[in-house]
Amino acid sequence: MKKVLVTGGLGFIGSHTVVELQQKGFEVVIIDDLSNSSIDVLAGITAITGKAPAFEKLDLKEKSKVESFFENHQDIVGVIHFAASKAVGESVEKPLLYYENNINTLVYVLKSLLHLPTQNFIFSSSCTVYGQADEMPITESAPIKAAESPYGNTKQIGEEVIKDTCKVNSTLNAIALRYFNPIGAHSSTKIGELPIGVPQNLVPFITQTAAGLRKELSVFGDDYPTPDGTCIRDYIHVVDLAKAHVVALERLVGKNNTSNYEIFNLGTGKGSSVLEVIQSFEKASGQKLNYKIAPRREGDVIQAYADTTKANTELGWKAESNLDDALLSAWKWEKHLRNI
Ligand code: WQD
Repeated sequence: MKKVLVTGGLGFIGSHTVVELQQKGFEVVIIDDLSNSSIDVLAGITAITGKAPAFEKLDLKEKSKVESFFENHQDIVGVIHFAASKAVGESVEKPLLYYENNINTLVYVLKSLLHLPTQNFIFSSSCTVYGQADEMPITESAPIKAAESPYGNTKQIGEEVIKDTCKVNSTLNAIALRYFNPIGAHSSTKIGELPIGVPQNLVPFITQTAAGLRKELSVFGDDYPTPDGTCIRDYIHVVDLAKAHVVALERLVGKNNTSNYEIFNLGTGKGSSVLEVIQSFEKASGQKLNYKIAPRREGDVIQAYADTTKANTELGWKAESNLDDALLSAWKWEKHLRNI
């Protein structure tokens, strides 16, 4: 059985990807430091697939620990690297925490991977690298703008680190996946998004408001140059995103990549405004949502949605779920979490 390392495999996107990997016949070993995830997620994954992935609690900032892990796992066919800090606001307050945790760890994993017989690497990147793109939908060749936050900068730097390393190591084959806005949860309600504290992202704030944990949703600005004045994003079901990682890994394992460093946008190709998300949630859940219009949030781009042509044609992947499906899955997960 082909063995895959998933770093950050107990996180939101990581755990959904582990499920899809196992269901496609891969053996999975997870590394997670549990700084932004719970060990309970392991049981959730096992409940879905019937197979407990191997798990090692390990801080990837500890270089020697990373080295010994790879020495003991020479047989892995690929690494899917999710482990990183990802809160935009926090990154502004604690830049060094982000540069250390998102960049040092990437360097240590790549350095160790280069000693293995098989060197396939999938990187968790983000549409944040585009900043406010000039044209919609956004293609992979859209210019990379100056990052709006240290978090976004770590994704840009991470891609550069991988690109430069691939340039001088033909044995290393890498794919960077630029996610748009991942939302929703596995249909089993055994795993889903577990925001710590007050959710920063739109959809978990919506579901917590509908569940009565939050008084009301603040819509951050309705005076943007968009049809209804609110920001537009490309909300993609997390299971569709997870499946794309398996397809990308199989591409490298099957040596079907056309170069040893490729980039793909992962979105639905459809933009939805904040107000449209609210309407879709109310329709999908049958729940009225309390919300008010609030001032704009610093750093928000006006709109970002993907041109998915490259992923559709070259990767052979397409998102299957629409916004209603994804929001309903998020609501079912929230109700499961709160026993309602
Ligand atoms: C979406 C829209 C907000 C909360 C971020 C990161 C990105 C990725 C996904 C990690 C915006 C509005 C939000 C709220 C609101 N993270 N909103 N009220 O900012 O597009 O992307 O999360 O990879 O890298 O940048 O997602 O969900 O925070 O916001 O009105 O309480 O919802 O203004 O227009 P974002 P988001």
